Amino acid sequence: MNEDIKKGLLGIVVDETTVSQVMPDINSLTYRGYAVQDLCEKCSFEEVAYLILNKELPNKSNLKKFKKELNENRNITINLREIVKHMPKKAHPMDVARTVVSVMGLEDKDTSNNSPAANMRKAIRIFAKTPTAMAAFFRARRGKKIIPPKQGLSFSENFFHMCFGKMPNKEIINAFDVSLILYAEHSFNVSTFTARTITSSLSDIHSAITGAIGSLKGPLHGGANEAVMHMMNKIKKPESALKWINNALDKKEVVMGFGHRVYKKGDSRVPTMEKYFKKVSKLKNDKKFFKIYEIVKNVMIERKDIHPNVDFPTGPTYHLMGFDTDFFTPIFVLSRITGWSAHIMEQHAANKLIRPLSKYSGEKHRKVMLLNQR
Ligand code: COA
Repeated sequence: MNEDIKKGLLGIVVDETTVSQVMPDINSLTYRGYAVQDLCEKCSFEEVAYLILNKELPNKSNLKKFKKELNENRNITINLREIVKHMPKKAHPMDVARTVVSVMGLEDKDTSNNSPAANMRKAIRIFAKTPTAMAAFFRARRGKKIIPPKQGLSFSENFFHMCFGKMPNKEIINAFDVSLILYAEHSFNVSTFTARTITSSLSDIHSAITGAIGSLKGPLHGGANEAVMHMMNKIKKPESALKWINNALDKKEVVMGFGHRVYKKGDSRVPTMEKYFKKVSKLKNDKKFFKIYEIVKNVMIERKDIHPNVDFPTGPTYHLMGFDTDFFTPIFVLSRITGWSAHIMEQHAANKLIRPLSKYSGEKHRKVMLLNQR
């Protein structure tokens, strides 16, 4: 390959950011300077969302105001609810997520206003409304009545309420909160870079997030948490795991939920998510998936020195919580909206059109012949 071409932008630093820092050498990840593990143990998802969007952790009064704003913006329009209700039942929820954010762009009074204040208002509206629209689809495709958001519930509680009409115990809510914190932000990953690229033409936040959702859908990125569950279902039981994984590696298959472009010695988010996966397995009295997880993980490390990424423990955790497999990546969306929005605002604040070069390798210069001469 030509030395000048950095396929996949491998190793290229394209800009500065103050949103997060991925430090593969010391297996660490910080949001605005705070270690993500620390945030998971000491903060709610709302506090972390506020941090990502506003650069600082909230004090009591800021948090109260932020929660009030989220509560006030949770309802979706009748128009959007009807659109969601009439979407094909077999549509992939990621395609639904992409479409609902796009529709919100049609309805938002600030769509063409890219000022910092308007972008923050729109970010909060997208963050507050997307769970409502996705929960509506979760219910509608099961032929169930749509449940509107309820005042006074946390982000996670409200999502469970709107999907299931009931609330799990506090430990499950806490594990869900932790998964959202871990999914909220991760520097210049594919979908964030997509959002920044769209923004760099001075397009709007709804367009950038719509594009980012399309990018997150792929199995090499966010779609991996869904792919992991399909793999778990193929393995079926812990007793089959060893044979299955050795067979997959013998056939040189890509094993979903493993490997990472930046982390080569392990994903900084995995130990925390693994802990909550174990907790949820215990709470649900179903340790089958955790046992499969451990066997597959050990073989991958032993044979290939390839470590699990955050999608491996998260997929089966969402399954144990009762979510449909194709809803795992949309849950990732609900959280990553915070990171994307922060990057979109950062890109706007110091914009430079993102426009790389390519090396042409097609036909040499040719002359067009008239039709009757060809
Ligand atoms: N299963 C099996 N082998 C894997 C692997 C996996 N999940 N991930 C990487 N490898 C192997 C590759 O085959 C390659 O081997 P080779 O050098 O013998 O060809 C080597 O490790 C380097 O991988 P590469 O694909 O070049 O790394 P990358 O940085 O381009 O890709 C991913 C990173 C994430 C795309 C890749 O690890 C992957 O496809 N993982 C599965 C999907 C996934 O879980 N995505 C979520 C990411 S958070």
